[in-house]
Amino acid sequence: MYKHIFMSRRHALWLGFGTLASIGAFAKNKVMSGENQTQVLETVKRDFRVVGKASLKERAAAKGLIYGVAIRSHNLLSDQKLAALIAQECGMIVPEWELKWHVGNKPLRPQPDAFDFSVADRMVKFGRNHGMLVRGHTLVWHESLPPWFQETVNRQNAEQFLTQHIKTVVKRYAGKMHSWDVVNEAIEVDDGKPHGMRSTPWWELLGPNYIDLAFRVAADADPKALLVYNDYGLDYDTPQHEAKRTAVLKLLERLKSQGTPIHAFGTQAHLSADESRFHPRKLRKFFSDVADLGLKIIITEMDVKEQKLPADIQVRDRTIAAVYEDYLSTALDEPAVIAVLTWGLSDRYTWLSEFRPRPDRLPVRPLPFDAGMNRKLAWNAIARAFDTAPKR
Ligand code: XIL
Repeated sequence: MYKHIFMSRRHALWLGFGTLASIGAFAKNKVMSGENQTQVLETVKRDFRVVGKASLKERAAAKGLIYGVAIRSHNLLSDQKLAALIAQECGMIVPEWELKWHVGNKPLRPQPDAFDFSVADRMVKFGRNHGMLVRGHTLVWHESLPPWFQETVNRQNAEQFLTQHIKTVVKRYAGKMHSWDVVNEAIEVDDGKPHGMRSTPWWELLGPNYIDLAFRVAADADPKALLVYNDYGLDYDTPQHEAKRTAVLKLLERLKSQGTPIHAFGTQAHLSADESRFHPRKLRKFFSDVADLGLKIIITEMDVKEQKLPADIQVRDRTIAAVYEDYLSTALDEPAVIAVLTWGLSDRYTWLSEFRPRPDRLPVRPLPFDAGMNRKLAWNAIARAFDTAPKR
């Protein structure tokens, strides 16, 4: 049985309309189809009122939570307004690129036998100089691998490359990192591999035990850091997300049962304003099941894509804000959730501009601050979720 049936006002509204619809009434702006509510577009009427002037950092901290952002070094170090806003609003930063194997023009791993920590060091220093926590992302991933990887790493030396990378990188920042995304996105049910494992170079070269190996090397290199398994596509009441939640849960259960030093689960929460199949109770149950394994939970990369919303900025901002508030009010009800990070702070710098642009080419609006560094309703929504969250 669920500890309590948690339902956001928005969901209750849906169910109310659902009842009306089941007797043939059509709610304004809604088309009901069968047992699945297909929401065409709800013009969100919530007022998103916020009390007081506290920052997101302060509102999170008041409940024993952490709010933070992912950021790229060239934006952080070149945009003073952004840097000041991050210092004001955030209790944590995570380098969006700089601790991956190879992103941008000054990669961490330029050569098989070389590491370049110059940029990552500056970001860790920025965080610590501003009293922020820093988290590392990500030690083992199938993306952002260096150009030399494929012709250099093979079955005979893969374990040595993996071990050396983790040991070198984690040791450098030992004692300074709040947490590390040790392994990122290892589950892909559609790959058809045992246990829903993604067919990554690491899986191909080392087999499924690469995950346990990575965590053990990281734990040895920094016994203080929280070690996290991070993944995405776990948010909605769809067959794909349900299958992935099941596979991820089973992976976490296997890791815990074999004594892998894993401390937390990271759910990326790249949400969609175009997806109406949000089911608070199912999401809440997933979080409870993860917490029941003795794991903490971090919402690691939250943002909201919105390709299909109309051009009207008011409608877009209200709808996006409701997505933030509904998801967070459900997620933060789980005491094991310790931190919320958005994947960026301002629409001026979001990966979604390139990764999920709108068909009408209007600038996307996924984050708490707009491109002019002004608060948006998404900021209010996150603030309200922290304000109503149970204290840890
Ligand atoms: C993304 C960055 O934001 C992009 O700039 C980069 O080009 C690709 O990677 N899940 C993750 C992140 O774990 O590392 C990804 O970050 C976004 C999806």
